[in-house]
Amino acid sequence: MRPARPRSSLRDRAARVLDANWTGTSTVPSRTLYPHQWSWDSAFIAIGLRHVSPLRAQGELETLLAAQWGDGRIPHIVFNPAVAPDAYFPSPDFWRSSTAGRAAGAPASVQTSGIVQPPVHALAAWLVHRADPGLSRSRDFLARVYPALAAWHRYLLHRRDHGGAGLVSVIHPWEQGMDNSPCWDAPLRRVSPARAFRRADLEHGAAQDRPTDLDYGRYVRLASDYRDAEYADGSGELAAFAVEDPAFNALLAASEHALARIACELGAAGTARHARAERLTAALVRRLWDPEAGMFFCRDLRGGVEGEAGGGLVREYGISGLLPLILPTLPREVGRALVDTACGPHFGVGDLVRMAPSYDLLGPAFDPHRYWRGPAWFNTNWLLEHGLRLHGEHARAGRLRAAMLDVAGASDFAEYVDPRTGAGRGARGFGWTAALTLDLLAERTSR
Ligand code: SER
Repeated sequence: MRPARPRSSLRDRAARVLDANWTGTSTVPSRTLYPHQWSWDSAFIAIGLRHVSPLRAQGELETLLAAQWGDGRIPHIVFNPAVAPDAYFPSPDFWRSSTAGRAAGAPASVQTSGIVQPPVHALAAWLVHRADPGLSRSRDFLARVYPALAAWHRYLLHRRDHGGAGLVSVIHPWEQGMDNSPCWDAPLRRVSPARAFRRADLEHGAAQDRPTDLDYGRYVRLASDYRDAEYADGSGELAAFAVEDPAFNALLAASEHALARIACELGAAGTARHARAERLTAALVRRLWDPEAGMFFCRDLRGGVEGEAGGGLVREYGISGLLPLILPTLPREVGRALVDTACGPHFGVGDLVRMAPSYDLLGPAFDPHRYWRGPAWFNTNWLLEHGLRLHGEHARAGRLRAAMLDVAGASDFAEYVDPRTGAGRGARGFGWTAALTLDLLAERTSR
C-alpha cells in the first residue's frame, strides 16, 4: 500500500491563499467578491504576509500608498484596471475619483473610491519592518512610507474631527468597515435610500449573509452625495452620517504609537506622536466610555437630544466597543471592565462562543449569519486576542488563538463564521483570514 500523502500544514494552506490572491502588486481580499485592493484588508494582509515574504508585504503597503490623495486620505478601494467594470459595485465610474476628486488631490493615474477605512497602516508598516529590518533598511522602506503615513494621520485628525472633541468621525458605514452593524441602524434611518443601482455582490454571496437592498440604497446615497460635493470635508455643515467610532479611533491611536516607533527608527523623536496617541486614548474614554455598561459605544453626532451639541451614544454592543483593549495606556479599571464585558453574556468569549461575535448575542438584531450583525470575523478577533494579552489575560488569549486557528483551517479561511459553531459564511480563501492565521502561527516575539 502506498503511504498516504502528508496533509498540508495550516501554514502552507494559508500561504497558498495569499499566493492565489496576489495580483503581482497587491493582494485581493477575495477573487470573487472583492477583486480589487482594499485599504484595511491590505494592512491586515501585510501583517501576515511578512511571515511568508517581507518583500511582498512591503510592496502591498507601497501599492496602496501610491494611490493616496493629495489631501492625505488613503482611499478604501484601489481599482485594478484589468478587472471588468461590472465585477464589483460601486465601480470606478460611480466614484469618478480622477474628476470628482481632483480638488482633493485624487491621483490621475489610478482609479479609487473617495472614502477611507480604519487606519491600520502605520501599525502594519512597523510590523512589516520588524519582520526583516535588514531588507527594510536596504530598501529605505520606512523612510519612504513615513511621510505618507504622517499625511494620512494628519488628514484624519485635522479634516475629520467633525465633533470637535479630538476624535475622528466616519461619514459612511463602509469607512468604519463593519458595514451593516446594528450600531448604524439609528444613524442610517435618517438617510433616504437611492433606488437606481445594481449590486454585484449577490452574484457571489448568499443574500441572507449580506447587507439588505435597503442598506445598499443608503450606502449609495451617502457615497454619491459625498462624490457630488467633490469629496470635500468640513464645509461647516455636519454630514448626513457622522459617527465617532471606538475601533476606528483606537486603531488610529495604536498607529500613532507605531508611527512614533518608526520616527525613532529613522532617527527622529517620537515623543510628540506618543503624546498624540495618549490624547486620543483620553478622548476615547471621555467621549465614548460608559462605566456603567463597561463598554465603549459609538457617538452619533446627529443623534442625542434635539438642539444639544455633541450628539448621543448609540447603546448597541458592537465588537468595535471592545477594541480599545489594544491600547497600552487604557486606564486599568477600563481595561478590566472591558475584559469582563468580552467574557460576559453579550460576547461570551471563552464560554458561549468559539470566536467573539461582531454584535451582541443578546441584542434583538443579532443574526449569526448576516455579515456584521453577529458573525465572527478574524481581524476583530485578532485585535481582541492581542488586547487580552496586553491586559495580562494570557490564558484567555491562548484559548481564543487556538479556536481561531481551528476555525480558520476548518472553514477554508472563511470571510466570517457563525460565532457559536465556527461554520464558515461569506467568501472562502479570504485574504486577511489567511494572513492573520499566519501571524497567529508565527513566533509571539514577532508580534
Ligand atoms: N465592504 C464593502 C463591500 O461589501 C465595501 O467596502 O463591498
